[in-house]
Amino acid sequence: MSTSMKKMMSVAAAYITEKSKMTPKVGLILGSGLGVLADYMENAVTLKYEDIPYFPTSTVEGHAGELLVGELKGVPVILMKGRFHMYEGYAPEITAFPVRVMKQLGVERLLVTNAAGGVNLEYEPGDLMLISDHLNLTGKSPLVGTNEAEIGPRFPDMSEAYSKALRQMAHEVAASQGITLREGVYAGMLGPAYETPAEIRMLRTLGADAVGMSTVAEVIVASHAGMEVLGMSCISNMAAGILDQPLSHGEVMETTDRVRETFLNLVLAIVPKLQ
Ligand code: HPA
Repeated sequence: MSTSMKKMMSVAAAYITEKSKMTPKVGLILGSGLGVLADYMENAVTLKYEDIPYFPTSTVEGHAGELLVGELKGVPVILMKGRFHMYEGYAPEITAFPVRVMKQLGVERLLVTNAAGGVNLEYEPGDLMLISDHLNLTGKSPLVGTNEAEIGPRFPDMSEAYSKALRQMAHEVAASQGITLREGVYAGMLGPAYETPAEIRMLRTLGADAVGMSTVAEVIVASHAGMEVLGMSCISNMAAGILDQPLSHGEVMETTDRVRETFLNLVLAIVPKLQ
């Protein structure tokens, strides 16, 4: 018989506990160009993904591939610098496996960040957007297959996958820092090609405000496990067909560089309120 998911979670979590000797309370997943937050960790132990049992390795440019356990503003956190994407060829349940390991370690609240294209015409590159909800358009779910009831229910509720209370808190923190925070719907695509202009018009019709190639599998797994999620997108570019120019990963990285400080200050102020 194949190894159960619960067993894989336990083995990976035991390895992390043995190496870090810490019990993280808050989980953070940092998207493209946003990994700099890791530099603010104190007393951190850094683990390579490839050394953690059942973790795959990350391949994308702009994504490091390290798990850090330590303190951020005095809060014990576990932080993923770089994540796994389905477009790399990973099954959705592998993409989201680290979230399950976090839960196994005792994490109840998860902050997920990503770089995303702006679909809403009022947005501008450099805007930060709280994710209010998502459209899973990847065609895949990490929950397909046998359900292990110890992990979560067969048919989990997704009506508040992105916690209202945490969004409220994030808005208050942003306001106190004079940061404008958008709030909108994130469309999760499989990628890796950026969307066509026709696809972007479709997404807008469907109610999307931003589009990206990550996050949805992680959040489905977090919801399944009963975790509370706060999601934040950095609008790194306008989505395809909005401006008369091609999209590039270079533009995505340039914008995340430009927004880095604002993003950092916001997240550093939010983390203590997640514990
Ligand atoms: N589309 C999909 N994913 C993205 C984009 C985009 O425009 N920008 C950053 N990630």
